[in-house]
Amino acid sequence: MTTPGRWAPAWNSLTVGELASVDITSKTFAAEPFGFWARLRLDAPVQPVRWARGSTAWVITRYSDVEAALRDPRLCKNRHDALTGEQRAAGPKLPRALASLERGLLSLDGPDHDRLRRLVHQAFTPRRIEQLRGQVEQVAESLLDSAQCRGAMDLIGDYAAPLPLILIARIIGVPEEDTSRFRAWTRALVSVGEHPLRSIGSVLRFVVYLRRLITTRSRDPRDDLVSALVAARDDDDQLTTDEIVAMLFLLLTAGHETTVNLIGVGTSALLEHPDLTRSPNPHLAFGKGAHYCLGAPLARLEAQIAIPALLRRAPDLRRTDPAAPVAWRGGAIVRGLESLPVRL
Ligand code: HEM
Repeated sequence: MTTPGRWAPAWNSLTVGELASVDITSKTFAAEPFGFWARLRLDAPVQPVRWARGSTAWVITRYSDVEAALRDPRLCKNRHDALTGEQRAAGPKLPRALASLERGLLSLDGPDHDRLRRLVHQAFTPRRIEQLRGQVEQVAESLLDSAQCRGAMDLIGDYAAPLPLILIARIIGVPEEDTSRFRAWTRALVSVGEHPLRSIGSVLRFVVYLRRLITTRSRDPRDDLVSALVAARDDDDQLTTDEIVAMLFLLLTAGHETTVNLIGVGTSALLEHPDLTRSPNPHLAFGKGAHYCLGAPLARLEAQIAIPALLRRAPDLRRTDPAAPVAWRGGAIVRGLESLPVRL
C-alpha cells in the first residue's frame, strides 16, 4: 500500500478536518497531488472537499469504494433529479440557446441515457475505431514531420493537442476547409467553464455551424458521425437536432482534454520513469458501469500510435530545459500540462 510519507510529508500533518479546506483545483495542487490522495485513502476515504464557487464535493479514493459507487443505482448523474425544487431555482442557468445541451449522455440516467448511448455507440465500437488506425498514423507522422524540421516542439501545443482534434473533426465529418475554425471553436468550448463570458460568443457560433452541418448532411449523407446521427434521428427514434448538437459537444469536451493529457502527461511520465512495471493494471481511468467511457477505444488507439511514433522519431527525446518548473493546468477533474517544450 502507498504510504503518504513516500510522496509529500506535508499532508501527514493536517487533520482530517483541515484536509477539507485544501484547494484541489489549483495549479500548485496539480503539480503534486499524489500524497494528498494517498493520505485520503489512508484516513478519509470518503471526504468532503472545497469545490468551485464555494460549493462542496465528495471525493472517494479507495479503488473498491470507487468501483462500488460507479455501479450503485442510487447515485444519479441528472442533477435536476438530485436537487430539490428550491436548489434548482437557486442554481446557475444556461442561456436558453444552450439549455438543451445539458441533455447529454453524461447528465442522464436510466432509459433516457440508454437510448442516446445506443444511438452513438455504433460509431465507437473497437472494430469501427480500428479502421481509423491508418488515419491516426498519418496525422501523427505529419505533425512530427513539421516538428522534426524545427528540431524542437511544445509537446502539448504542437502534438498532443492537435492530434485528437484533427481526428475527431474527421470522425464527426467536418469538411477539411473548416478545420481551423473548428479548432478555435472547440478550444472555446472546452474553456467555457473557466472563461464563460469570453467563450460564449464562439460557442453560440459553433452551435449555428453544427446545426447547418446537420442540415447539410440530412440532404447529402456521407460516411461520418453526423450523417449516422441524422439517420438515427430520421428513424422512429426521433433524435432531435438539439440532441445531436449536445452529443457532438459532449464528444468534444469529454474526448479532447482527456486524450491530450493521456499523450502529454503519459509521455512526460515516460521520460521520467522509462520502465513500465505495473501489471496487472485494472485501472478505473475510463470509469465503470453505465457511463463507462464511450471513447476508450479511440483514446487507446491514439495513445498507442502517438507515443511510439514520437519515440521512434526521437529516441533521445528530452525536455528543452529540465530545470524549469513544469507548467500544470489548474482544475480538479482532469490533470494536464499547459505546455512541455522538448528537443527531438
Ligand atoms: C484518455 C482519454 C479519456 C479518458 C481518461 C476518459 C475518461 C472517461 C470517464 C472516467 C468517463 C466516465 C465519466 C463518469 O462516469 O461520469 C468517460 C465518459 C465518456 N467519455 Fe471518455 N475519456 C477519454 C477519452 C474519450 C474520448 C476520445 C471520447 C470521444 C471522442 C470520450 C467520450 C466519452 C463519452 C461520450 C462519455 C460519456 C459516456 C456515458 O455517459 O455513457 N472519452 N470518459
